Amino acid sequence: MRLEPLNLYELEAHAAKFISPHAWAFIEGGAQDEVTVKRNRSALEAITLRPRFLQDIEHRDLSTTVLGEKISFPVMVAPAGGHMMAHPEGELATARGAGAAETLMVLATGSHYSMEEVADASSGPLWFQLYHRNHDTSEMLVKRAEQAGYKAIAVTVDTPINSPIERSIRHGSERPRGFNPGNFVGEEAGLGLVADTLDALYYQAPFTIPLTWGELGWLRQQTSLPIVLKGIRTAEDAYQAVEHGVEGVWVSNHGARQLDGTLSTIEMLPEIVEAVKGRAEIYLDSGIRRGSDVIKALSLGAQAVLVGRPLFWGLAWNGADGVRLMLEILRHEVDLVLGHCGHTSVQTLNPEVVNTPKPTW
Ligand SMILES: Cc1cc2nc3c(=O)[nH]c(=O)nc-3n(C[C@H](O)[C@H](O)[C@H](O)COP(=O)(O)O)c2cc1C
Repeated sequence: MRLEPLNLYELEAHAAKFISPHAWAFIEGGAQDEVTVKRNRSALEAITLRPRFLQDIEHRDLSTTVLGEKISFPVMVAPAGGHMMAHPEGELATARGAGAAETLMVLATGSHYSMEEVADASSGPLWFQLYHRNHDTSEMLVKRAEQAGYKAIAVTVDTPINSPIERSIRHGSERPRGFNPGNFVGEEAGLGLVADTLDALYYQAPFTIPLTWGELGWLRQQTSLPIVLKGIRTAEDAYQAVEHGVEGVWVSNHGARQLDGTLSTIEMLPEIVEAVKGRAEIYLDSGIRRGSDVIKALSLGAQAVLVGRPLFWGLAWNGADGVRLMLEILRHEVDLVLGHCGHTSVQTLNPEVVNTPKPTW
């Protein structure tokens, strides 16, 4: 008999036994020495909470909105290619789990199921994550996302060059093969591709049109959906983002999978909040594992946070129900910490809730 996991780390330990070593290395790994993987955690842990008591906290409301969509608590599911590595129902199960927890899922360009199949399976709001490689493909993806009811386009900006995950390479190859790249095969894609050719054409090919600030103008003309930039790491880029009129700035270091030796995202957040000045919503991911992490990020200015690797742990536990369980564990922890900090709404959190250590860099 297996015990119900008490926290996300127990879920992770369980998943390690059920996902193949090859896929596990790809999911868990980070860039090079994985210094920033550790820093994403250690920097969150170094921030401490300032509990406040003797307040009436009986009725607590965890709900918030992201770009006008209501979510039941401020944790969403980040985009990650290839959910079938953890469960045969892949992104369909993840979407069902996120929907059951009444929160939002972001579907990756490299999903195993197509965006239309995922939209059909989902009861919650969805965003579409875009890797911009060339105009034809981006136009095809964005138009389909709009048609299928996705609520925003999250453009990933932090992968100008594909970055190897060394421990994944040591396990055989960078990206586990043999799954259907759902958004590129089938009639909707109109590309006449099969999976094998896709891998060479899309994932391994150089970007034919580099994603630049100028390209954002082109993208804006293709869609009426709000645009979120995923992977912003500095005040300078955050400032440029709002100057270019984006609706959301997503502070992410891709779970430290692309470039080692950067700050953690929680360390980057304050300068980005300062640069954005309320002109766009701000989200944060990379290393969120506890409800206290969520409270810390919201206190420092994030509207909501996202989890990446934990979605695979939930899927490995029990498909859609496992994803829901993973989110419910976080919800329970967010609620507990919120009450201890003397707040009844996640929307009133502010920097006074936390002690932030002085920067050591
Ligand atoms: C296996 C895996 C695949 C990912 N694929 C993508 C992707 O296709 N596009 C993207 O923007 N981010 C991708 N990410 C990054 C996540 O969206 C997110 O930024 C990151 O996982 C958050 O950190 P965490 O895993 O520590 O929660 C991927 C992450 C993992 C673990």
